[in-house]
Amino acid sequence: MNTSSTLRPASLPEQDLAERFQTVRERTLDLVAPLSDADASAQSMVDASPAKWHLAHTTWFFEIFILRDHLEGYRLFNERWPFLFNSYYEAEGARQARSQRGLLTRPALGEVRRFREYVDQAVLTAIPFLAERCGELLELGLHHEEQHQELLLTDVKHLFSCNPLGPALWPMLPVSMVGDVADSGSAWREFSGGLVEVGTDGDAFAFDCEQPRHKHFLNPYALARRTVTNGEWIAFMEDGGYRNPALWLDEGWNWVKAEGIESPLYWRCEDDGHWMHFTLAGWQPVDSAAPVVHISLFEADAFAAWSSARLPTEQEWEHAAQGLDPDGGMQFDGEYEVGPRAASDPKGLSEMFGSVWEWTGSPYRPYPGFRAAKGAVGEYNGKFMSNQFVLKGGSFVTPRGHMRGSYRNFFQPEKRWQFTGLRLARDLT
Ligand code: AVJ
Ligand code: FE
Repeated sequence: MNTSSTLRPASLPEQDLAERFQTVRERTLDLVAPLSDADASAQSMVDASPAKWHLAHTTWFFEIFILRDHLEGYRLFNERWPFLFNSYYEAEGARQARSQRGLLTRPALGEVRRFREYVDQAVLTAIPFLAERCGELLELGLHHEEQHQELLLTDVKHLFSCNPLGPALWPMLPVSMVGDVADSGSAWREFSGGLVEVGTDGDAFAFDCEQPRHKHFLNPYALARRTVTNGEWIAFMEDGGYRNPALWLDEGWNWVKAEGIESPLYWRCEDDGHWMHFTLAGWQPVDSAAPVVHISLFEADAFAAWSSARLPTEQEWEHAAQGLDPDGGMQFDGEYEVGPRAASDPKGLSEMFGSVWEWTGSPYRPYPGFRAAKGAVGEYNGKFMSNQFVLKGGSFVTPRGHMRGSYRNFFQPEKRWQFTGLRLARDLT
């Protein structure tokens, strides 16, 4: 069984590129260390990919966009594999259907590991040249791999949840779940709004969709000091929240009925009425003080309506988070945790970073002046800007160092297998 000491820490901005490359690449391998080839090959649903596919796809990204495109004389590890591990890049041609990634029982896990070694070796040997020539793409590849580290964990969790044996990826560790927001007086923190700036501000890495920084007007608003807890969610359920159409968006209500939704994903009610939920440490009792997680935007919106509040906009959230340390919260950096934990900060807003991804009511659309990145990687974000909502903050399995205030995660409103929760907002006017 894995212990925290075998997991590499997050990469640090001050590390040089070669070191960061090795740290990030090795940590992905750490994550899959407990998995058998069968564990790593199965696909439990269309949204999820096999762990083996994540291992190979992140490697494909470096092989194609860095080595093939920029290193003269580079030879592909296997000419037929790019078809298997291209995710969605039309510029890279035809590919294995997303829904059929789980049919790739070949190549075996061991062969995929050798693919990783081959590509790592080629990148590291040429890294001074590559850093000079396409350093930004290398950097993008590392952030891409960090995104896939979180996706890999959410996908393994979904796969294991489908197994009646309820396997645990990680051992149970004691987690302190309770924040100290009760001490801070009001449950709300107020902001006067006005003309603010959002978007990435400095030289540090950011995806194209976080640019350009621009002005945005906010009316006075209040943001909840902490995220909604399981205990509050149970109160919503016991009050008939999932049975009252008046609380729901029409599309959400149709989804609830069609899917028979009665609780967050992974929840199970025991005969005695107590709730259990599936975690990366197997089935565990639901902790009423912990942030609720694995809810869709539809559920978040209905809960907000039930609370006579609303979801924050992405700009309200980002403005509130300005000045907070994105690396300060609970995040993924070598200690296994079984669930989100609250932590307070000087601004009186707790667990803004880490903990859970927070749904906002903002559609994922281009910022004014947005320009997609050049080349094939221009397909990375921009083409997904329809019918998705922005999530802010980051979860307890987002690698430390990966988050920032301007980060815009995005998913369709019915998705809930990611570590998604919510924080309420309300108008002050
Ligand atoms: C930002 C998490 C929605 O899951 O497709 C991975 C991340 N982009 N490879 C996704 C991503 C390209 C992306 N999300
Ligand atoms: Fe990807």
